[in-house]
Amino acid sequence: MSNGDRVVLALGGAGTVGSGIVKALLDRGFKVAVISRDNNKLEKLKGFVSPGTNNNLTTIVGNVGSEEAVEDVKQALLRSVGKITDVVSSLGFSWWQGGPPHTQPLKELQWVIETLLYSTFVSWKAFFPLVRDNPNSTYTFITGGAGDKLLMPGTGFLTIGAANALAFCQVLREEYPELKCKLNQVKINTGVAVPDRMAPGYLNHLDLGEAVAKLVERRNKSHIIYSVSCPADLKSVMLEGNL
Ligand SMILES: NC(=O)c1ccc[n+]([C@@H]2O[C@H](COP(=O)([O-])OP(=O)(O)OC[C@H]3O[C@@H](n4cnc5c(N)ncnc54)[C@H](OP(=O)(O)O)[C@@H]3O)[C@@H](O)[C@H]2O)c1
Repeated sequence: MSNGDRVVLALGGAGTVGSGIVKALLDRGFKVAVISRDNNKLEKLKGFVSPGTNNNLTTIVGNVGSEEAVEDVKQALLRSVGKITDVVSSLGFSWWQGGPPHTQPLKELQWVIETLLYSTFVSWKAFFPLVRDNPNSTYTFITGGAGDKLLMPGTGFLTIGAANALAFCQVLREEYPELKCKLNQVKINTGVAVPDRMAPGYLNHLDLGEAVAKLVERRNKSHIIYSVSCPADLKSVMLEGNL
């Protein structure tokens, strides 16, 4: 199956990390579908991808964080693209530094868990059945690496949210040790930014996107955690993995 016959669902594809992945997948000839709750972000994404690749990009407004809403958006997606062969999930948010736990309301913690864990779980439950029995399919999670330690003062809820996402990926690997679909995780232990917002040590979302697109294209391994702490680590993702 060539890239042009594959349809990748990019969950979070209108975000910082996801937009780099979407652009790289389109550049490699994949068809790509992106769901976002915000039509403005989808319009911006259409203007961001390489000229001439727009025909292969399908955008759908929808919410993948509730079980009812995800069914609606799934039906709309299948009506529009017919099939999904691959999923890349980069749901969440870029950064949170609201302050130490005693200063935070429960509502804030609920938002963090909803955005990082519930959306990841609900969308996985809805879309994984579309790819799980296909040996030519992939499901790739992009997570932060912040789950194991506090990044800096005031980022506690980000650490808790990231830990939830990491645990979810771990549970999937262990609950489903043998799958036809390739199930992988790219764990990013540093910041990711668009080119004009780069800081020292950050990954350019375009470079990350190229590495993830290559991983999806290659689809030769499963149950791997590709750990990325600096730009040089992206080469390992592109070549074979560095578990
Ligand atoms: N940026 C970084 O520095 C960095 C570093 C390491 C790891 N990561 C990880 O990468 C992932 C993405 O980060 P990011 O920087 O790309 O964040 P982002 O720019 O905020 O993008 C996240 C995307 O997730 C989508 N999303 C969240 N909940 C949704 C829902 N219920 N329904 C539909 N879409 C939903 C958002 O879509 P809407 O368009 O609907 O808002 C948004 O476009 C996170 O898991 C994060 O931990 C990021």
